[in-house]
Amino acid sequence: MNVSRRSLMVGAGAAAWGLALPLRRSFAETEIKEYRLTAKPAVVNLTGDGHPDTAVWTYEGTVPGLELRVRQGEPLRVVVENKLGEDTTVHWHGVRLPNAMDGVPNLTQKPIRPGESFTYEFTPPDAGTFWYHPHADTLQQLGRGLAGALIIEEREPVPVDRDLLWVIEDWRLDDDGRIAPGFGNRMEAGMSGRIGNTVTINGRVPDLVSVKAGERVRLRIVNAALARIIRLRFEGHRPNVLAYDGQPCDPHPLEGGRLVLGPAMRADLIIDMDGKPGEIYRVIDDFYQDLAYKLIDLAYAPERPARDHSPNASRMLPANPLPEPDLAAAERYEIALQGGMMSGMGMMSSGSMMGGTGMMGMGGATWAMNGMSMTGDGQSDMPPLVTLKRGQTCVLVLRNETAWWHPMHLHGHSFRVISRNGKPNKLREWRDTILMPPRESAEIAFVADNPGDWMFHCHVTDHQEAGMMSVIRIA
Ligand code: C2O
Ligand code: CU
Repeated sequence: MNVSRRSLMVGAGAAAWGLALPLRRSFAETEIKEYRLTAKPAVVNLTGDGHPDTAVWTYEGTVPGLELRVRQGEPLRVVVENKLGEDTTVHWHGVRLPNAMDGVPNLTQKPIRPGESFTYEFTPPDAGTFWYHPHADTLQQLGRGLAGALIIEEREPVPVDRDLLWVIEDWRLDDDGRIAPGFGNRMEAGMSGRIGNTVTINGRVPDLVSVKAGERVRLRIVNAALARIIRLRFEGHRPNVLAYDGQPCDPHPLEGGRLVLGPAMRADLIIDMDGKPGEIYRVIDDFYQDLAYKLIDLAYAPERPARDHSPNASRMLPANPLPEPDLAAAERYEIALQGGMMSGMGMMSSGSMMGGTGMMGMGGATWAMNGMSMTGDGQSDMPPLVTLKRGQTCVLVLRNETAWWHPMHLHGHSFRVISRNGKPNKLREWRDTILMPPRESAEIAFVADNPGDWMFHCHVTDHQEAGMMSVIRIA
């Protein structure tokens, strides 16, 4: 449901529902975009006609969930209603918003109990491709389908012929199309996490996407998988990257001709459809060795080209108002990513990392950050890994001491990637999630301008829940 009304009317409506909404706006004519998002079970078809349906958990009855769109700088209100059989929350991944709206259970809000609702309200400062997902029982809730795109539109429309969105999800289905049980398997948690056997785009195992010769497409890709990393190659095309994680960067061709996205990561691409009517080109995902597969075909419509040449319009997206890190005055913190199989911690974990306490009681930590393991989805009393003064520039020096990949996500901020393995990163792109290959290091920098307790965790959900999670406090 998508309603845009005057705040006054929304207020009146809210009163009628018996919700006590404080009057936080003047009587100015502020338009508030309001959505209602009900988390509930549903049955959908993921694998195509003739294949069995799948019982999933959804926002508004679909996977991915309802696509939310709002203009940059304009307020958004989302009333989340919980019709699941367990607690939930919604996290607005990548959006710089007040801490109380961040959706981490027990840390930033009380979980939303079954039958209850919670109203999220914030004004996204940045345009770009974002997404939302639960932060409670995340393995199961995300793994059963709770995820959706949040598109923050630029104030001025970007000159493209088409704006395409691919929300990529990864499912583990049995032969009858059911979601396989076994979330939180210890063995998997210590390795690459729960990788599925069925990849969907926008809720369907894709076949082809129809394109027109000569058109310029903005393709927004969201990796909403629990654990699967994707590496996409576009046969016969030369996409340019416009943005990572919603934040514009200097447009550039794909490094090595491939786009690598770990869980939770996004990219906006510009693709000029330079093929000819009737041609077909494959998009291939070849991240896992020997497991390359065709994700989808770009199929050129037989009609005449949309135009003879691709338009010459600038490929730049307008910059977002991000505070620039002051590297000369930065405080540096080293963060080691530790644990997993082959580390001595993994399956044989003795509890020593937690000083002998908690590990077993907390469901067993397999991973750690600087020797600390916080497990689960969020807790009320997480001691911060790092405490920062408001306004301080912070450089986090990340070292992946493990044999596994980790997409590390910081809530409430975007950071610049300053260096990788000791070498300056020329692009210095902004991200909210950085994919750390095994044994590699990176430096990221951001201004701690948003007060609160912010999660910093691995977005391979099994890793997060098995200990690769921490809090960064901004006082
Ligand atoms: Cu997208 Cu804490 O997560
Ligand atoms: Cu990880």
